[in-house]
Formats: sequence, C-alpha cells, structure tokens
Amino acid sequence: MTGFDIDEIPSALQRHLPVGAELVWPAQGMTSEVALAVGTSGTVVLKRCTNPIYLTWLRREHEVLLAIAHLGLPVPNVIDHTEQSGSSGPEAWLVMSCLPGRSLWSAMLEAPDGERGPLLQRLGLFLRALHSARIPEALGQPKDWISRKLEQARANLDWCDGDEGLLRWLEESRPAPVPEVLIHGDPSLDNVLIDEGGVLSLIDWSGGDCGDPRYDIALALRTEPEITLGAHEVASFHSAHGGAPMDARTQRWFELLYEFS
Ligand SMILES: Nc1ncnc2c1ncn2[C@@H]1O[C@H](COP(=O)(O)OP(=O)(O)O)[C@@H](O)[C@H]1O
Ligand SMILES: [Mg+2]
Repeated sequence: MTGFDIDEIPSALQRHLPVGAELVWPAQGMTSEVALAVGTSGTVVLKRCTNPIYLTWLRREHEVLLAIAHLGLPVPNVIDHTEQSGSSGPEAWLVMSCLPGRSLWSAMLEAPDGERGPLLQRLGLFLRALHSARIPEALGQPKDWISRKLEQARANLDWCDGDEGLLRWLEESRPAPVPEVLIHGDPSLDNVLIDEGGVLSLIDWSGGDCGDPRYDIALALRTEPEITLGAHEVASFHSAHGGAPMDARTQRWFELLYEFS
C-alpha cells in the first residue's frame, strides 16, 4: 500500500475535509489505503481501493453501512462515496466518520496470557447485540448465505488462498443450517475498535450480510498463532454471546471458508 496525498483526494470529496486537514496513517489493513484527515474542525476517515476486487468490496461496504445506519449500532457514519478513473486506473473512495479507540487486537496482545477473559466477554456481548439486530430489508437475499459464500468461493479460486480440493471438502461437509442473522462477515480483532472506556465498535463492513453467525464467531476467536486462548477465556466469550459453543469441526469449517475471501 502506498498512501495518497491530500491533492489526490477527488475534488468531489475535498469539501468533506476538516479545516487545516493533515493526513495521519493508522496501521493499514490488507485491502485498502486508509488515512485519517485530522483538522481543527474534526477528523474524517478516507478509504481508497484501487485493486478491482477490493474496489467492489468498498462499494459493498458503502451499501452495507447505509443499510445498517439506522440500527443504532456503533459503526462509522457514511459521509460520501465516489468512484473515478485515477492516475493508475479505476479507484473507489469512501469517506466516513472516525471512531475512537484502538484495535481490540492490540489490546488483546497487551493483556497477559490467561487474562483476556474480560475483553472476550465484552466481545461476546457485543456480537450478541449485532446478531440480535433487525436485518435491514436491503440486505435480504433469496438464497442462503452458506450457498452464496460457496458460490463466491468458486468464483474467487483464481486469486484467493483456498484451492479446489479444500473447496470440494467444504462443499461436501457443510454444517447444518442455523437461523441467519445480521453478521459483520470479518470481525477479526483488527476490525473491532475499543475506546478508553472499553466500548467496542466495528469497522470494515464489506462482508456485512444476512448470514451465519458462526462465521463471525469463528473469525473473532481466530487468534493463533500470536495468542493462544485458554478454555475459560473462550467460555467467557460464549456465555456472553449466548449461542451454544460450536464443535471444533464446525469452527474449523468456517475458518477454512475464510481462505476463499
Ligand atoms: N471509521 C474508522 N474510524 C477509525 N479508524 C478507522 C476507521 N476505518 C478504518 N480505520 C483504521 O484504518 C485501518 C484499516 O481500515 P479497514 O477498513 O479495516 O481496511 P482494510 O479493509 O484494508 O482492512 C483500521 O485497522 C483502523 O485502524
Ligand atoms: Mg480491516
């Protein structure tokens, strides 16, 4: 990821920049370049994608954020979105509000081994609220989420980490369905923010969907190899979330499905 200068921000979006804006670069994710435009009148977040695949994801993130905007969830407010032909090809831009805090991943790394239970309990409660939210009509789909994800996985074979053999295994061993809910679709802990008061929020919404809550749970608990969670820490998560703990095979199935994103 290379970053961008203020004068590369599309003219249609310049009016959203705070007075005296300077760009500050947080730890970057995998799909985009994200800058905080910090000025005397506030801060906004600018997210740019240039890879054609991730450009589609940013378009989807914009749609999902608009669809869930009225649910009262702690998520960024969309300020604007635009697509244009940039200096090296098509690019998509999203401008959104800046949420406070740092990633839950960094808080988890700092917490001593065996003492991550309270953070996981917060996360469990947080995902419980998300999974209990009303599913906006705009996210409704005629086909079930697992079938759609397996179809997408096949379409992604050319560029994703998963391969044909693994995909066949996933297709042949798909878990029994559970009721679908509003999911985030990628709550790895670098997409969960925690503020100084311990309040959580969620960014990076391109996977938001009416879907299988076990995917969110499997991705939220995927902390290896950096962090090995103790059984009681995992139990804190599940009792706060309220769903029955998944068996290890089902959890692995959902983790492996992520190889196709
Ligand atoms: N709305 C936001 N408020 C505060 N920080 C944000 C916001 N959106 C993104 N970030 C920061 O930018 C980083 C990358 O953003 P993210 O949307 O996760 O990009 P990617 O899709 O590349 O993973 C995040 O880890 C976070 O530090
Ligand atoms: Mg991210």
